[in-house]
Amino acid sequence: MSYNFTKTVFITGASSGIGKTASLYLCEQGYKVIGSSRNLGRLDSLAEEANKKGKCFFPVELDINKENGEAGCIEEVLPPLIERYSINVLVNNAGYGLWGPLESISVSEMENQFKTNVFAPFRLSKLLIPNMREKGYGRIINISSVAGWVSTPFNGAYASSKFALEAQTEALRMELWPFGVTVSSIQPGLFNTNFQTNMVHGSDAESEALPYKYFINRYRRKHKKWQKLIHDPIKIAKLIERIIESERPRLRYPIGFEARAGILGSKIFPERIYQWMISRSSM
Ligand SMILES: NC(=O)c1ccc[n+]([C@@H]2O[C@H](COP(=O)([O-])OP(=O)(O)OC[C@H]3O[C@@H](n4cnc5c(N)ncnc54)[C@H](OP(=O)(O)O)[C@@H]3O)[C@@H](O)[C@H]2O)c1
Repeated sequence: MSYNFTKTVFITGASSGIGKTASLYLCEQGYKVIGSSRNLGRLDSLAEEANKKGKCFFPVELDINKENGEAGCIEEVLPPLIERYSINVLVNNAGYGLWGPLESISVSEMENQFKTNVFAPFRLSKLLIPNMREKGYGRIINISSVAGWVSTPFNGAYASSKFALEAQTEALRMELWPFGVTVSSIQPGLFNTNFQTNMVHGSDAESEALPYKYFINRYRRKHKKWQKLIHDPIKIAKLIERIIESERPRLRYPIGFEARAGILGSKIFPERIYQWMISRSSM
């Protein structure tokens, strides 16, 4: 294994799931990886495993939700890292799902969802772009979701945030294309991570005052069946490497059968029929 570190990758949410698997895999492939988490302790086991054969993983404490000006915010933590490591690749991975009927979701719950899944990638990209542009090379990879293309019942808050991330990806890609910086989104289906456990349930999601209980129960029963489709996040780690090394990465990379089928379905079926199919399969 060579440790010449031709490229340095900054990946948010490296403590778990896709971020952890990708950090370890990219280290093994010879990249230098800077991985962030809100809690440094959560990166200990990853750092130990990754650095076994030589130092390639650099843990960073970062809560991407902290406002600009607060201690430990993105705008304070990133600049010294950019100066020291010259980051070529940004993987905006940290994120969570906010669950519940949209009517039950509070404005502050929705704001937090957007802070993590939309504003943080925006703030991180803004900070890293100038350096990438000057060097004439850069890759920004946004971990979106199939929910960035197809919205489903009770996942509307999460899907809103991933749709917004897709729009960000599209525009940024065209703006940065002339400067050798490419922007892509990965749209995973169901992957075996802590995503379901870490999902935030809206505080009023199952309020007795709202009429969704019957449909929520149906959703739960159907959702269990979907879990059989779950994939290994190593597939996403390998895809990230492919995007980094590709000369002309694509705009979107759906990954997982259900993601590809869901996206294809939205393109070939009439809207009304597709909405009926989605609704029937999810609640
Ligand atoms: N798993 C799936 O089926 C699936 C499907 C489609 C899309 N995705 C997307 O994949 C990405 C990674 O999720 P995962 O599946 O790997 O879930 P996960 O196992 O729950 O990991 C989520 C990561 O995000 C970080 N995170 C969450 N909120 C944060 C915040 N406010 N500040 C900093 N870090 C934060 C967590 O880090 P700390 O808690 O240590 O800070 C954690 O490392 C997410 O964007 C998710 O939307 C996942």
